[in-house]
Formats: sequence, C-alpha cells, structure tokens
Amino acid sequence: MEEIKILAIESSCDETAAAVVVNGRKVLSNVISSQIDLHTLYGGVVPEIASRKHIENINFVIEEALEQAGVTLDEIDAIGVTYGPGLVGALLVGVAEAKAISFAKGIPLVGVHHIEGHICANYIENEQLEPPFVCLVVSGGHTHLVVVEDYGKYRILGKTKDDAAGEAFDKVARAIGLGYPGGPKIDKVSKEGNPHAFEFPRAKITDSVYDFSFSGMKSAVLNQLNLSKMKNEEINQADVAASFQQAVVDTLVTRGMSALKETGMKKFAIAGGVASNTAIRAAFKEECAKRNIEFYHPSPILCTDNAAMIGSAAYYEYIQGVRHGWDLNAIPNLKLGERYE
Ligand code: KG4
Ligand code: ZN
Repeated sequence: MEEIKILAIESSCDETAAAVVVNGRKVLSNVISSQIDLHTLYGGVVPEIASRKHIENINFVIEEALEQAGVTLDEIDAIGVTYGPGLVGALLVGVAEAKAISFAKGIPLVGVHHIEGHICANYIENEQLEPPFVCLVVSGGHTHLVVVEDYGKYRILGKTKDDAAGEAFDKVARAIGLGYPGGPKIDKVSKEGNPHAFEFPRAKITDSVYDFSFSGMKSAVLNQLNLSKMKNEEINQADVAASFQQAVVDTLVTRGMSALKETGMKKFAIAGGVASNTAIRAAFKEECAKRNIEFYHPSPILCTDNAAMIGSAAYYEYIQGVRHGWDLNAIPNLKLGERYE
C-alpha cells in the first residue's frame, strides 16, 4: 500500500502542535507545546497571548515533529491544518504557516475541521475502527453527539445549547477553588467525594432529546455554594465535585445510549479533552458492555488538542480529493460537515 505522509498543524486554542502521520493511523511524531502554565495565571485562555505564543513556537514545533519522525519536507505528501473552529488569531497562525510551507515546497494543502480531528483521534490506536459509529465529542469548546456515517461524513444529532462540558468543568472548578484547568482537578478530587451528596439537575432540553445544556447545572452548583455559605455550613469540596461530575456523566450517558438505540449502531466512541475523564470513561465502558456495544476512546494525550488527530482527519480528506488553495482562511465558527473548497 502506498504510504501517504501528512505533516499536520494545530493551533486553534492554547496548544501549538505538529505531527507526522502515515495513512491516517500511524503516528511518526506528535509534538505539543502547551501554553497552559501561562494562561493559568489568568484563570483561562487569553486569546491575544495564545496567538503571540503560537507565532513564537510554531517553527520549532514543526521542526521537532519532522526531526522526531525522521523525515524532511521533501517526503511529505500533504499539509493538514486546522482552519476552524477556534480562536481566530490562534487559527490564523497555523493556517498562514501551512500555506507558506505548502507554497514554498509545492505540497498540497488540506484544511481540517477541529472536531473532525478529535473524532479521528480514535482511528489512531484502533486499527480496526471504521465508520459507521456514534461519537460523543466533549471538549473545552464543544459538546457534540455525532453519527460518523463515513470518513468525512458526519450527521450531528445534538450539541450544547450553552456551555460546553469542559467549560462547565472549568467554571465549577473555579467556583470551588480548584483553579484552572478544572477538568483534571475535578476528576481527581471526585475520587474522594460522594457523587450522591447533592442531586444537581440532569440538564433536560425539551425540544431535542440529544441536545445538551450545562449552564443550568453550573448555576445549581453555584446556588448550593451560596446557600451553604449563607447558612455558615462547611461545604465538602470533594462531594460537590463528585456530585457535579456525576450529573455530567448521567447527562452524557443518557444521550449517548439513546443515540445508539435509535441508530441501531454497535460502535460508540468518545473524543475531546473531557473524554479523558475517568468517571465518564468508566460509565460508558459499563453501559456499552451491557448493550454489547464496542466502546472506543483515545489515550489522554490524543484526547486533548494535538496535531496527530489533525493528520488522521487530513488523510481521509486528502484521499477523497480535498485540496485547499491560497485563499484558505481561518473560520472561527466553522460548522462540522461544511466544506470550504
Ligand atoms: O479538547 P481540549 O484539549 O480543547 C478544546 O478543544 O476545547 O479540551 C480541554 C478541556 C478543558 O475544559 C479541560 O478542563 C477538559 O478538557 N478536561 C477534562 C479532563 N481533562 C481535560 N475534563 C474532565 N475531566 C478530565 N480528566
Ligand atoms: Zn479541541
């Protein structure tokens, strides 16, 4: 089989990343330069700082990815780059860089949707995984329940109406004094807490069974904290964290299982930063096993933003003939399934 080597670039948020991926599944290198320590000082991602840091880091990250993979640009068949959704200034750094390399070396350019990348992270460690399957994408910016009908072909069943799952984790963590980024911290302290200490609402949306809403859940936590404060009651941080996490788990699992039932599909995958959450993984593993559903999830390093997943998605776009021109632009609100060619 012919080997297609893709150099992939990701800069949509606070990670500057580059990777070399062969035939969409084999990762030769996966370099990630995280800015998290810098943004932690401000309690969240500062877009202006993110863009500046991407500019400073991107050349080194790409050189490192090529070096670790043991390849030169002359051996690269295509450049894959995230062009949306994300922070416009951050995306632009990756897109401009990819266009420059593509132009200078005459290498085809393939723009990639960031969420498509997260979904494709599942192909990397699961050789046998092929569409169709149902995928739940839960990250800091997105919560999407998607039917992956074929490579590059997605049908969105539901998405969040307000906050993304990761955003809710980060906001609740801040409220209970855990700091940024909140997801991993809530995950950790929840192990010490009682998930049924508080019954936070399991967000219900009446017009679509598959949509999500996390803003109400976050408000319920804040109300509980205020109430306890007013009553001068000591609040157990681990109990709040565990109860909130349980509410998120229940919401995600209910939607995911309904999607499997309705579509009749036998494969389920999770993706995105929040897919690293140990309680979420455990719950899906159990519920899928009960129903004889194959459950897939990427390793934590492939759940958070990285370029290997972009290299995988770019490959499937590339073999379907997708090429972008010099007019490729960053599209901060790019919709999944839309193509700008
Ligand atoms: O996919 P990602 O790296 O960036 C976006 O595309 O948004 O996701 C980052 C999000 C953050 O909100 C972070 O708190 C959350 O993923 N996260 C977690 C865990 N690890 C990361 N949330 C819950 N549990 C975790 N273990
Ligand atoms: Zn992401």
